[in-house]
Amino acid sequence: MSQQLIDDFGRTVDYVRISVTDRCDFRCVYCMAEEMTFLPREEIMSIEEIELLSRAFTELGVKRIRLTGGEPLVRRGLMDHLTNIGNLPGLEELLITTNGSQLVRYSETLKQAGVTRLNVSLDSLRADRFKAMTRNGDLNKVLAGIDAAREQGFEHIKINAVVMKGSNQDEVLDLLEYARDKQLDIAYIEEMPLGNIDSHDRALSFCSSDEVMEAIEERYPLLPMAQKTAGPSRYFQMADSDIRVGFISPHTHNFCADCNRVRVTAEGRLLLCLGNEHSVDLLPVMRAEPGAIEPVKVAIVKAMSLKPERHYFDLSEEPQILRFMNATGG
Ligand code: 5AD
Ligand code: SF4
Repeated sequence: MSQQLIDDFGRTVDYVRISVTDRCDFRCVYCMAEEMTFLPREEIMSIEEIELLSRAFTELGVKRIRLTGGEPLVRRGLMDHLTNIGNLPGLEELLITTNGSQLVRYSETLKQAGVTRLNVSLDSLRADRFKAMTRNGDLNKVLAGIDAAREQGFEHIKINAVVMKGSNQDEVLDLLEYARDKQLDIAYIEEMPLGNIDSHDRALSFCSSDEVMEAIEERYPLLPMAQKTAGPSRYFQMADSDIRVGFISPHTHNFCADCNRVRVTAEGRLLLCLGNEHSVDLLPVMRAEPGAIEPVKVAIVKAMSLKPERHYFDLSEEPQILRFMNATGG
């Protein structure tokens, strides 16, 4: 029987999100400060270390790996090695979260490497607002990227939209119409207090999933999906479309009891919970004996006992978590 990762609360961890870089070509207002200092190259995992880590996890029963960033597609060398991760025995799904800016160029590579599903961030369909929210993103490039990905025939492409009051809240339905039209799933995300940002007051911009849902239901009644997905999203369908509409609600719906995942930062720090600092630094383990997989597996198994039962986010306080999302891996 192959090994499994089980934490102290009986939850099986079979899903890992690995951040392959903290860098990004965008500077989304909810994610980054305008001026960011990125990690020096030697402090982040090499492509070989990312591969080793992925193999260690799959040997420990992990079935799904999601590569995130920053923006994973800007990580140099990754695209040439992606097939090695996609082909790992035991891995059922390789997933990518991207901002879409490089999809015209890389959709085919992703598909050939065995990526099954893509999440593409898209907060606005208005070029000027998109530019403002991402601080330099080009909407048309992203839309063209999404079309290129659709042509590759991925099993699912999902749009992720962070909804903010005073910003894109009025586009909830437009984004839904776009998703329906292009046959894409869509998830609306509540902003999380990760990292200290100065562009807006998160308590004021916060828009709850319930509000988003109400706006949608004025036009399209939402039908709960029979099958429950593990993790923070709740999914619904509409009577006249087979796309899925999800809500990711870390504030208003605590999802910790079903948590099946851990994360690894670009620096190789294993985070046991997005909303807590409990972590184990895997980089020194990997560098002590380059290429050796057993010590990595031992460290991962041992870390499971650190996984906390739940997280607490509170918008009225200073962020307790000073990591930015780009270093965490979404
Ligand atoms: N709160 C919620 N979502 C965020 N994302 C980035 N930063 C935050 C935050 N502070 C989203 C991005 C992307 C996904 C990986 O995480 O928009 O869709
Ligand atoms: Fe880049 Fe994604 Fe962060 Fe935006 S949310 S700055 S696209 S990593």
